[in-house]
Amino acid sequence: MLGALGALATAAAAFAFVRSDRAWGVGEAAPQPIPYSHQVHVGQLGLDCRYCHAGVERAAAAGMPTAETCLGCHRAVWNVTAQFAPLESALALGAPVVWSSVHRLPEHVRFHHGAHVAAGLGCGTCHGEVQAMPRTVKVHPMSMGWCLDCHRDPRARLPPEAGIVALPGAVADAMGPGASARAVAAQRVEHFGVEIPPLTRCSTCHR
Ligand code: HEC
Ligand code: HEC
Ligand code: HEC
Ligand code: HEC
Ligand code: HEC
Repeated sequence: MLGALGALATAAAAFAFVRSDRAWGVGEAAPQPIPYSHQVHVGQLGLDCRYCHAGVERAAAAGMPTAETCLGCHRAVWNVTAQFAPLESALALGAPVVWSSVHRLPEHVRFHHGAHVAAGLGCGTCHGEVQAMPRTVKVHPMSMGWCLDCHRDPRARLPPEAGIVALPGAVADAMGPGASARAVAAQRVEHFGVEIPPLTRCSTCHR
């Protein structure tokens, strides 16, 4: 009896841990080549996110700053040579600076920044108060369940003025421009008797 209860308790604890924030690395900073701070550069100096993450509105990847981006200012201010050595060597070698990621998704998942930003989602929805972080950390687990929490009903999480699209091409074409997702969903229910919201299909995130 006791053995069985013990096994059950262990399984329950393991299950709870796997679903906890700690198992997903929430709140843990990664070692960086230079102690860069968003709090200093965004919170105090007021730099725009796109100054360093230039791809975020159009591309899948937000993009990371090059050595030139930093040295453009740091040749003039706060030029503590030892601290900026990794930037100088990256520049000399023509190689990118190797920033560690706290958000990297596995290879089998597809994510696209441009689509989310165009839908009206701010960076803070997924990344939290980056401008207040001396070291960048994850504030949400970035697990499949977390993605789906929003994808099941993104309307609830979008600012009121944002349009919500994500129509499968053929249906959108058939209904013409300006067709709302709600109208398309209603039509699909009428025709096929089922509604599979496009944003929750496996193939949206896995190819
Ligand atoms: C627009 C100009 C500008 C750019 C671009 C810039 N910095 Fe800075 N940075 C500053 C200024 C100004 C300070 C000093 C802030 C203070 O201490 O008041 C600073 C401070 C720093 C510090 C030391 C202060 C601290 O406590 O964090 C580091 C390290 C640093 N920057 C790294 C970087 C890196 C790495 C990049 C590129 C990703 C970068 N900076 C891009 C202007 C810039
Ligand atoms: C001066 C350049 C600069 C600006 C401006 C800047 N960042 Fe960054 N960002 C960096 C650097 C350098 C890193 C890598 C080091 C780190 O993680 O702290 C980074 C990392 C990140 C990461 C983690 C990336 C990963 O792979 O896990 C996120 C998220 C992020 N930035 C969001 C933002 C947001 C949101 C803004 C605007 C509010 C912003 N950044 C403005 C330079 C910048
Ligand atoms: C819907 C959630 C979401 C929003 C909104 C969002 N991000 Fe991200 N961000 C992610 C995810 C998920 C990753 C990890 C992507 C990967 O590994 O493929 C990521 C990764 C990053 C990275 C690391 C480099 C990269 O592209 O992999 C940076 C930098 C970043 N985001 C900056 C931003 C900025 C700046 C904004 C606002 C303009 C923003 N993000 C808005 C979810 C989001
Ligand atoms: C806060 C809400 C929210 C979160 C969190 C979120 N998404 Fe989305 N996602 C959206 C919305 C809204 C769209 C529809 C954008 C459009 O079609 O214009 C979208 C669209 C997409 C698309 C289709 C992009 C394209 O190319 O058309 C992919 C892929 C995607 N999301 C993956 C993810 C993944 C993976 C995660 C978790 C790491 C995630 N999303 C988290 C709201 C969210
Ligand atoms: C909104 C985006 C999204 C949708 C839709 C989605 N997934 Fe995922 N899935 C993810 C993310 C993100 C991960 C990676 C989580 C992580 O970091 O391990 C993942 C991981 C997985 C894994 C690997 C599990 C593991 O432990 O690593 C499998 C298997 C999987 N998904 C199957 C599915 C199936 C089947 C469907 C359709 C019923 C589906 N996914 C729909 C985002 C999504």
